[in-house]
Amino acid sequence: MHHARHICAVLALGAMAQTATADEVTLASGITGNAVENFKLIVAPWEKATGHTATLVPMPSSTTDQFGQYRLWLAAGNADIDLYQTDVIWAPQLADQFVDLSEPAGELMKSHFPSIVESQTVGDKLVALPIYTDAPALYYRTDLLEKHGASVPTTWEELTKTAQMVQDAERAEGNDDLWGFVWQGNAYEGLTCNALEWVKSFGGGQIVEPNGDISINNANAVKALELVSQWPGTISPDGVLAYQEEEARGVWQTGNAVFMRNWPYAYRLGSGDDSAVKGKFGVTTLPTGGGHDTSAATLGGWNIALSKYSENQDAALSLAMYLASPEAQKLRALNSGNLPTVVSLYEDADIAREVPIIPQWKDVFLQAVPRPSAPTKGAYNEVSNKFWSAVHNTLSGDGTAAENLELLELDLTDLKGSGW
Ligand code: GLC
Repeated sequence: MHHARHICAVLALGAMAQTATADEVTLASGITGNAVENFKLIVAPWEKATGHTATLVPMPSSTTDQFGQYRLWLAAGNADIDLYQTDVIWAPQLADQFVDLSEPAGELMKSHFPSIVESQTVGDKLVALPIYTDAPALYYRTDLLEKHGASVPTTWEELTKTAQMVQDAERAEGNDDLWGFVWQGNAYEGLTCNALEWVKSFGGGQIVEPNGDISINNANAVKALELVSQWPGTISPDGVLAYQEEEARGVWQTGNAVFMRNWPYAYRLGSGDDSAVKGKFGVTTLPTGGGHDTSAATLGGWNIALSKYSENQDAALSLAMYLASPEAQKLRALNSGNLPTVVSLYEDADIAREVPIIPQWKDVFLQAVPRPSAPTKGAYNEVSNKFWSAVHNTLSGDGTAAENLELLELDLTDLKGSGW
């Protein structure tokens, strides 16, 4: 008894001493758009309230590159990084390296969409706290569509025709840099997102189904990839096969594309004073294809995970909780246009006025299709890598869609073995 009380007193003192020091908390995060300046703005109230500082460790914007680096750092027990900004797909693969946040964040999580909290839960462990969700849009130029008498396409076939028609007509008038459609064709996770949308909206399933069945080798998926294979070099630049989000946005935001597939962050940036498309674009849901009648948006999103190897557990937890809070998410929504994971912010008048895509996009992300990270568990990154490679080969003219999807099925079957 006496001994236990003694330990408690020591611990309490330790905790007090900790709050008295000013800690520096590091967060590794990809930087896309104006993430660096927005980070400073978002953490300012927390720094002021706690006396701690938050430092962004900037990472490449490709989620694939981040994942590779984080896996190495975590395997090495890196104590320099306290928090990691994690993609929605990573929880099952990195769960062991992060601290369970279900206790400290249990109450806070009640204000978030349950399905998103669920996506970050592995067994009983809350692996990361959601800070925003993501679902892509079809961005279109209202001025160009109107000028050429075209309507907003609802199918991929229609988009192909309209993009070609407007591109041809504009080039005939000397608008030589204009392209019909920009998207993410680089061989990385972003291509998995784009291609899942084509395949799913053609009725071709979701690569690996929620029950673990490998479904990708089917006639609708082949049809989808055959249509898309026509884009590079016609309505899209050849270079689209090296594009990630920021390259597509670069072409779009300088006024050189009729259509763009991108996430909501591009809405805020495209509406900025330095944007050539400010006031000249609209957003709608992605098209359907192959006679199928429902479109598909891949579910994205980002979270904050606390490293087991952090030597700053208390201050790091405090920052993670703050970043997931309604207050920080509102700042993020207003400044980055990211979709909150806090339910009540979809009723927020400031957000609705400043970033109308946010309330409009609530149903889109709630119905978005998840990548097969839950059923394929620790193998997801390899599954995705094999999928984007098969798609990238097809779009580069290296094998037909039918051949590449057949090979992919064999590869995935091998990888699955007797179960994921
Ligand atoms: C966005 C999404 C993320 C996805 C990535 C692909 O950042 O939020 O989930 O993996 O794009 O490039």
